Amino acid sequence: MKYKRVLLKLSGEALMGEKEFGIDHDRLKQYAEDIKSIVDKGTQVAIVIGGGNIFRGVGNDAEDVIDRVQGDYMGMLATVINSMALQSALEKMSVNTRLQSAIKMEEICEPFIKRRAVRHLEKGRVVIFGAGTGNPYFTTDTAASLRAIEIEADVILKGTRVDGIYNADPEKDKNAVKYDTVTFDEVYEKGLKIMDMTAFTLCKENNVPIIVFDMNKTGNLLNILEGKQIGTLVEV
Ligand code: GTP
Repeated sequence: MKYKRVLLKLSGEALMGEKEFGIDHDRLKQYAEDIKSIVDKGTQVAIVIGGGNIFRGVGNDAEDVIDRVQGDYMGMLATVINSMALQSALEKMSVNTRLQSAIKMEEICEPFIKRRAVRHLEKGRVVIFGAGTGNPYFTTDTAASLRAIEIEADVILKGTRVDGIYNADPEKDKNAVKYDTVTFDEVYEKGLKIMDMTAFTLCKENNVPIIVFDMNKTGNLLNILEGKQIGTLVEV
């Protein structure tokens, strides 16, 4: 396998599948199967999942109703719901998992303890990190970068619904060209959108490569671990 330890970032919105909100069971099952396929090959897998399918956060125009900080905490709780769903789906497939939350909820999950997370990974358990960074004003992409650095992941695998990074938005521009690899500096120079700047800068400064790929295509995850050219690799 190309990488020993990976941090998989999943989008909450992608979990909706064709639904308007909530969790699509078929999509959840597909994700769990794909994750199992790399765990079975001995890859150590940590996961951060967003919460947008349940709560999308508070836009500027809504702040007179729900306070921004309050909204961010609501979003963090939404990620715990998704994490619990994914944990269950994996366990139904006999994949050992541990859920750790950045906000203590001891009845439902362990608190985030880095050394314990690493121990779980070494024992072959999938570790899901819930509640983002535990702080408002940070995205789940930033949580993914932070946790990847903390657990010394070899790569961040950012699952999206597009198959990589393009020089223009492929959903709007038919002539958009996909990059196989791109450097961190090129991403800044060309203004390519991969993650928010906080998340991206953390990866750059700590030398964590990122692979952006289509998580909705079954088999992609295993193909990446087998070293095939899938998605776009961002590296130094
Ligand atoms: P090792 O024994 O070190 O291999 O790891 P372990 O995770 O099996 O040990 P532990 O006895 O700590 O955990 C047993 C189970 O309890 C696991 O499913 C943990 O996820 C769960 N667990 C541990 N701490 C907490 C907690 O604070 N809250 C909740 N809800 N579950 C916990």
